[in-house]
Amino acid sequence: MNTNFLVTHGTSVMFKICFICDGVIDIKVQQLGLLVSFLLFRLTGTKYGCGGGGCGACTVMISRYNPTTKKIRHYPANACLTPICSLYGAAVTTVEGIGSTRTSIHPVQERIAKCHGTQCGFCTPGMVMSMYTLLRNHPEPTLSQLNDALGGNLCRCTGYRPIIDACKTFCKTSGCCQSKENGVCCLDQGINGFPEFEEGNETSLKLFSEEEFLPLDPTQELIFPPELMTMAEKKTQKTRIFGSDRMTWISPVTLKELLEAKVKYPQAPVVMGNTSVGPDMKFKGIFHPVIISPDRIEELSIVNYTENGLTLGAAVSLAQVKDILANVTRKLPEEKTQMYHALLKHLGTLAGPQIRNMASLGGHILSRHPDSDLNPLLAVGNCTLNLVSKEGKRQIPLNEQFLRKCPSADLKPEEILISVNIPYSRKWEIVSAFRQAQRQQNALAIVNSGMRVCFGKGDGIIRELSIAYGGVGPATILAKNSCQKLIGRPWNEEMLAAACRLILDEVSLPGSAPGGRVEFKRTLIISFLFKFYLEVSQILKEMDPVHYPSLAGKYESALEDLHSRHYWSTLKYQNADLKQLSQDPIGHPIMHLSGVKHATGEAIYCDDMPVVDQELFLTFVTSSRARAKIVSIDLSEALSLPGVVDILTGEHLPDINTFHFLTDSEKILPTDEVSCVGQLLCAVIADSEVQAKRAAQRVKIVYRDLEPLILTIEDAIQSKSFFEPERKLEYGNVDEAFKMVDQILEGEIHMGGQEHFYMETQSMLVVPKGEDQEIDVYVSTQFPKYVQDITASVLKVSANKVMCHVKRVGGAFGGKVTKTSILAAITAFAANKHGRPVRCVLERGEDMLITGGRHPYLGKYKAGFMNDGRILALDMEHYCNGGAFLDESLFVIEMGLLKLENAYKFPNLRCRGWACRTNLPSNTAFRGFGFPQAGLITEACITEVAARCGLPPEKVRTINMYKEIDQTPYKQEINTKNLIECWKECMATSSYTLRKTAVEKFNSENYWKKKGLAVVPLKFPVGLGSVAAGQAAALVHIYLDGSVLVTHGGIEMGQGVHTKMIQVVSRELRMPLSNIHLRGTSTETVPNTNTSGGSVVADLNGLAVKDACQTLLKRLEPIISKNPRGTWKDWAQTAFNESISLSATGYFRGYESNINWETGEGHPFEYFVYGASCSEVEIDCLTGAHKNIRTDIVMDVGCSINPALDVGQIEGAFIQGMGLYTIEELNYSPQGVLYTRGPNQYKIPAICDIPTELHISFLPPSENSNTLYSSKGLGESGIFLGCSVFFAIHDAISAARRERGLPGPLRLNSPLTPEKIRMACEDKFTKMIPRDEPGSYVPWSVPI
Ligand SMILES: Cc1cc2nc3c(=O)[nH]c(=O)nc-3n(C[C@H](O)[C@H](O)[C@H](O)COP(=O)(O)OP(=O)(O)OC[C@H]3O[C@@H](n4cnc5c(N)ncnc54)[C@H](O)[C@@H]3O)c2cc1C
Ligand code: FES
Ligand code: FES
Repeated sequence: MNTNFLVTHGTSVMFKICFICDGVIDIKVQQLGLLVSFLLFRLTGTKYGCGGGGCGACTVMISRYNPTTKKIRHYPANACLTPICSLYGAAVTTVEGIGSTRTSIHPVQERIAKCHGTQCGFCTPGMVMSMYTLLRNHPEPTLSQLNDALGGNLCRCTGYRPIIDACKTFCKTSGCCQSKENGVCCLDQGINGFPEFEEGNETSLKLFSEEEFLPLDPTQELIFPPELMTMAEKKTQKTRIFGSDRMTWISPVTLKELLEAKVKYPQAPVVMGNTSVGPDMKFKGIFHPVIISPDRIEELSIVNYTENGLTLGAAVSLAQVKDILANVTRKLPEEKTQMYHALLKHLGTLAGPQIRNMASLGGHILSRHPDSDLNPLLAVGNCTLNLVSKEGKRQIPLNEQFLRKCPSADLKPEEILISVNIPYSRKWEIVSAFRQAQRQQNALAIVNSGMRVCFGKGDGIIRELSIAYGGVGPATILAKNSCQKLIGRPWNEEMLAAACRLILDEVSLPGSAPGGRVEFKRTLIISFLFKFYLEVSQILKEMDPVHYPSLAGKYESALEDLHSRHYWSTLKYQNADLKQLSQDPIGHPIMHLSGVKHATGEAIYCDDMPVVDQELFLTFVTSSRARAKIVSIDLSEALSLPGVVDILTGEHLPDINTFHFLTDSEKILPTDEVSCVGQLLCAVIADSEVQAKRAAQRVKIVYRDLEPLILTIEDAIQSKSFFEPERKLEYGNVDEAFKMVDQILEGEIHMGGQEHFYMETQSMLVVPKGEDQEIDVYVSTQFPKYVQDITASVLKVSANKVMCHVKRVGGAFGGKVTKTSILAAITAFAANKHGRPVRCVLERGEDMLITGGRHPYLGKYKAGFMNDGRILALDMEHYCNGGAFLDESLFVIEMGLLKLENAYKFPNLRCRGWACRTNLPSNTAFRGFGFPQAGLITEACITEVAARCGLPPEKVRTINMYKEIDQTPYKQEINTKNLIECWKECMATSSYTLRKTAVEKFNSENYWKKKGLAVVPLKFPVGLGSVAAGQAAALVHIYLDGSVLVTHGGIEMGQGVHTKMIQVVSRELRMPLSNIHLRGTSTETVPNTNTSGGSVVADLNGLAVKDACQTLLKRLEPIISKNPRGTWKDWAQTAFNESISLSATGYFRGYESNINWETGEGHPFEYFVYGASCSEVEIDCLTGAHKNIRTDIVMDVGCSINPALDVGQIEGAFIQGMGLYTIEELNYSPQGVLYTRGPNQYKIPAICDIPTELHISFLPPSENSNTLYSSKGLGESGIFLGCSVFFAIHDAISAARRERGLPGPLRLNSPLTPEKIRMACEDKFTKMIPRDEPGSYVPWSVPI
């Protein structure tokens, strides 16, 4: 490992940053840029996923030495928000610094890889660095510390369980859930009363062996560079100034110098953590020519305990504030620390650990974000701010005027915030904090609140009352007038009722308020108040049991936190066949081929490819209108900017500007009309990314809006805006059957879309070869052949000139098929035109805006059923929101229709489906491909039938389930034995019946918290609808040293297909895995490949690889039999000597697959994946929060080729499905502009969302002669199982509604967000809020 000392030259001084990493560092560039750009330029480990601190992919460890305390502080930080100039005297450790395959790997890297904690691997370096930093500070962390440490890192593939399992191996008691403090733990007999899944029993098999792991030896860690310590000890430091042509960075090191700088540059921001200024500069385009960034000024870092409270320096980080407050609350009596407890509560969920370690208290307060978690509390707590300027010191209150930035109450431009006074609470004073966000952690609050009340001594009369809210206006709002009016009143129900009315009046939100969710926010405002009321009542009762009444037992649940125990899991998978040869790896949990490289950061993704000489960068200008004529495009200003090489419009592609996909055609760069916001219009090519982006902003486009604008499915139905043709599937005689049933119901369900949120955004590098018009396209795609085709057509060359290469893809999920090809073709056009390499990497926001995602759906159903729950007739209509162009929408509708019946036999079924044409970016393939939507519609219908019949949903599910030998609606024969097995096994292992009783008991005892339980079966048909779509090919070479190189048409996008292919070669050629290599996928080695998707990549390519190996074996059999004890080297040499080819292609023609849409009959699917999932949730009826307490999954995987990879696909998909059905919500403006353009607005599941208990088991192996070693493709099916969480929440809401006297059908749309949960749990508070007449206001967003 190298330790590189980096010397960066500023304009006037020189400073040292020490980068502890492995690589050559160029010191001249990017002095004023961000650390991430600096690292991306040189190293491959640190990843860029969002640029806004929201995903954790760029996590590094920063270490600083404090000469006063003589201590080194190690903390995790987001390199994407860390200005390089802020790192003076700091050591930065990147993932390369802690280990690599070339030297030795670190135990964290080893364990994440070996525990199968990586799939696409793009998040892995960030995960490793978060964990590594935790271990630097706590070599034997607790599970709470572990969960907290990973809270700022997102993973879209794994579902987090294997990452937690890996990290748990460092914890003191890794075998236990460590939840003793909450009552019970997993090792206690009878957890939940159901002992089946105690960890350590025979079902808890592990997919890795801890004995193999390298021990963690803290003494072997990198030391903090002594040179930096010496540097820090030197007292004679002066302000450092760094400059570039556009910006000056000033780092004063004493208060005096800071104040002088502030006088000189009063408008310059004082950057501390840069977590507020940084995102503003990046996303809002705010530019600061001068930045002042104090460095280790002691006065800003003080921690003083005074008689009245605590004074904390403005530069103290939020993580340090958390530690300080935790310490204080341990030492001081509770009556003095009410405010500190409340702050601690919010500091536990505010952002992730990276942001909390970077952000400062002063920066937080002064950012005055309207959704700040701390400011409402500090404002009600009579906190004061200590300011200083050259003029002297003064103190101002942190009050509403300050928060609204009233000039009279604000800092003067030349003033600095030096510290904050946070007073102790007094006896009879109570402070509380509340918040509700889309996700429980690392998500800005939708509404938050700080509340404080002070009573007269023991009389229960309100003497002081202060209530503040965040998220309900442009600034933190204090309900001052309401509080004033309540003073003098006793703390009772009448006071509460009056308080709700007053506050709703004072803190009013217009129907069109930014951020939307207006009724939810209004409800939260008073729900929080109610919680406060109960909390205070309980404390009063504790303080004076004689005078204050007890809370009704049922109401106490309003105060408890949602179920919070530590995660634990069990896995029960198939062991490899005992009869198989010992070296045969099939059936073994082989680690992902790139696992270790993912963990060390050596795995190369498209954007990690080194800069090529003369490389240009391409960025897109996209439409800002949803439907408009393009009046003019003015490029002149943009073209005149330095570094700009060219700007392409449709005019440059006169006769090649159209590409065709299925029956639709789309303009590559339209010149006359735009059909959605985010449509590509121009491509700006410049010497650098910065220059290209700057120029893109100067392209002036004039539009003339066109009518009508069609955004929603309902708009499309009204305007009959559909893509042709309509699809229909019919079985039995639906109309006749309706005449015979006991009951008929009609209903509908709307399901929102989903963003792929692959961690690696769309990326490509195109390199013209300069000879014979050859061009190499390196691209993150699932469909290299399609990239090749469009590129060839745009360049007007034959396909044999265009070579498309894919090493690996950092997640795709269906989103890297069509759009990627267009982006790559335009990039190739630019490269070809200029004869220079061109790179294009979309920013997260651009990616989300441009590419579309899963189709939103509207399902209408009419069900005819008997009173015993048998559904005899089902008539359905499916509508998907296809967006502006066809893309794969029709195919999605078709697959939705063919899969809609899920596990049920509906004897009379009719379903028609339409893909709606709307003015949104075209939606596309997404894991599950229509099934997650179609299946949900059916399950919603079943749930409603059950409610109508007064039967439990699981009973109606069982009654209607396929019989063992049956026929699908398209008349394909089916054997559902394993479906029934999965269902029974899931009911049994989840102890469904017992737990249902326990849930009912819980619900009868708790009014404000409810639990719900649901079990859902799965029949996922696998097949592509045509034989040709399933063909696959492979190429296997044996070299003379006996080593093998294999290549095939499948793309490695995290699912581990390359690992499985190597297992196949190993079995077939009977050689060790280490002998076999796979370099990547290329149209050069395997031509005419199909897209990688549809769960069948390993199935199909595996059969092709097997075919190639068998061809080789057949050729070599005579040689091998002549020398059976020989080695592969011997056999290869003999074959060479005998002129026998050592290279073979393999081919698989595709599964038999057909469907006739005229007759509605066919055999579209080769086989079915069966499964079942049972989930239990707890909801908070007052806030809409939910927690997934436990999920049990049983799957029929056939014979697993690699149980570790298969479990990974199932659980990863399950968590993605859970996100789909519960928290992932896209918001569009009424003008069709996507608001949710990054992890800060769009929430995918994080570590806090995974089920507390997760149990996954496979059915025993079952044979299927047609598939690869009887395996089944598992990539997609697990998504649907996420809907067991949806129906568990549905069950919990139903319980709440029944108790509140609100029976009747409950129709809930997906996703079941906190907003929907809260608003469905109707109560006196939802009745109290003002409602706006529809049509009387323009809503902030439209449900598309
Ligand atoms: C990904 C992400 C997630 C987040 N999640 C949450 C969340 O869940 N809840 C929440 O409440 N917040 C959240 N935040 C906001 C975060 O708390 C603030 O960005 C942070 O506290 C700002 O602190 P800073 O030190 O980085 O400020 P900086 O960006 O460095 O500065 C912010 C402002 O404060 C001024 N300033 C700073 N110090 C001084 C001083 N001493 N004197 C005068 N002026 C000063 C600067 O001039 C600047 O205008 C999140 C932010 C990010 C990026
Ligand atoms: S790239 Fe830095 S947090 Fe996402
Ligand atoms: S492995 Fe975590 S994002 Fe792919």
